[in-house]
Amino acid sequence: MEQKELKVSAIKNGTVIDHIPAANLFKVITLLGLENIPNQMTFGTNLESHKFGQKSIIKVADRFFADEEINKIALVAPQAKLNIIKNYEVVEKKTVSIPAEVCDLVKCFNPKCVTNHQPIATRFDVVSKSPLALRCHYCEKVTSEQQMVIIK
Ligand code: CTP
Ligand code: ZN
Repeated sequence: MEQKELKVSAIKNGTVIDHIPAANLFKVITLLGLENIPNQMTFGTNLESHKFGQKSIIKVADRFFADEEINKIALVAPQAKLNIIKNYEVVEKKTVSIPAEVCDLVKCFNPKCVTNHQPIATRFDVVSKSPLALRCHYCEKVTSEQQMVIIK
């Protein structure tokens, strides 16, 4: 077996979020509110991944996320894998699932929608998970997976 070498140091306690598409690392940081917490954090980006070509990883010490928090990243990191670390051991692995409601993350594709003209956060009900389809809370039009644009 090939010798394993960690590109980002192991952590003692906390959460490792692995398999984030490299392009969406900063979006995941924002969605989880990691910019403003005092915990030790390490990031790796543009790392090689057999599944994605390039992936990112986030390691947050002493922070454990509720499922609702984690599911916020499902649209930008659907393959993300969370590893819960206690005393250097992986004690649990979790995947993310698409939530019932998506807020302030995707643009409404309807050019006439109020959210495209006024500073109102978008809000959608998830009407289908695969393929993804989002119904706008304001104009009721459905934005499909192909039409989806993430708000940066
Ligand atoms: N990890 C860490 N600190 C630890 C233990 C693990 O940062 N004390 C990280 C590893 O670097 C890896 C992830 O947590 O990125 C998952 O660890 P592990 O399950 O041991 O690795 P893999 O078997 O490669 O996981 P998978 O195939 O599920 O991605
Ligand atoms: Zn709309």
